[in-house]
Amino acid sequence: MSQASEKSVIISGVGSYTPSKILTNDDLSKIVETSDEWIRTRTGIRERRIAGENETTSDMASAAASEAIKNAGLKPSDIELIIVGTVTPDMRFPNTACFIQRKLGIGKVPAFDVEAACSGFLYTVEIARSLMLTSGYKHALVIGAEKLSKITNWEDRTTCVLFGDGAGAVVLSLVDEPRVGILQSLMGADGNESDILCVPENEQSGTAAVEKIERALHKIHMQGNQVFKIAVRVMCQSAVDILEKANISAEDISLVIPHQANNRIIEALSQRLGIGMDRFKINLDRYGNTSAASIPIALDEAYRNGRIKSGDTILMVAFGGGLTWAAMVIKWQ
Ligand code: UT7
Repeated sequence: MSQASEKSVIISGVGSYTPSKILTNDDLSKIVETSDEWIRTRTGIRERRIAGENETTSDMASAAASEAIKNAGLKPSDIELIIVGTVTPDMRFPNTACFIQRKLGIGKVPAFDVEAACSGFLYTVEIARSLMLTSGYKHALVIGAEKLSKITNWEDRTTCVLFGDGAGAVVLSLVDEPRVGILQSLMGADGNESDILCVPENEQSGTAAVEKIERALHKIHMQGNQVFKIAVRVMCQSAVDILEKANISAEDISLVIPHQANNRIIEALSQRLGIGMDRFKINLDRYGNTSAASIPIALDEAYRNGRIKSGDTILMVAFGGGLTWAAMVIKWQ
């Protein structure tokens, strides 16, 4: 990412939405053979939110986006670009961004989705930032939103205890000031590991529909242990690499907002960076893993709780199916 531009892209508004229905670990222990103790100690999760049957990803995203636009002091008509990170679009097509555009009454601006699983939000912010710097869009709406409950296998205790639903959004704005807002960004992927975390449905195109359902091929499949090891390695390496790229030391980071998958992964990141857990934003105890929504929900919560002040340097790191990863350093305006 070039830093030559005299312009920067800042986060000018934040918002989030989580459904009201809470599913606790004890609730889950009535559905599958698990316990609150196992889930808490292995992951850090206590409860997660579950969207209503008719509540869609674009409904949750629109609520979060509406907050973010208001928080930026803007109107929907000011938005010039919409990008959504999601693996749970309302429909295969049209894209979820178009539904949000219609629901919020945003003008006829470009609107599309990006599929990079749990890295989806950071991928999406970087794509929007690049488009803003090259094409001059002034205000972009960037959202991470997921209804993971619809692709969760509620009979598989190794995955169903991990995920939740929700949405987080930011408004990005182009400003005539160098080196503020998004300072540095990196993205990566390794398709060789695509099988260890996926929804394999389409791959098995010769498989009869009934067999697909019996084998839950339309639901999340994960080799948790494998994913865990790679997540620790890749999250740590991404964080180290981005700090080096941005020429910023770990001491200068006011707050780390990691993808909220597992407390043990976050602790490993804290140790590797030498940044205490008190400088990490963690809310997975209340929301579980919401994939692309996890970082923007945590960002919104940190902002609203006064944990982010003007001038703060924030590190965000994500990892997810693909496998994909991404990291970003932001100087808050
Ligand atoms: O968002 C992007 C990516 N996702 C992640 O980053 C997730 C990464 N992976 C993980 O967080 C962890 O691997 C899990 C939390 C999914 C699993 O933790 P683990 O320490 O890796 O457990 P494990 O898979 O090695 O399983 C240990 C034991 C097994 O029993 P045996 O074979 O030792 O008898 C499992 O069958 O725990 C058992 N187990 C459970 N027991 C109670 C697995 N799931 C459960 C459960 N409740 N829900």
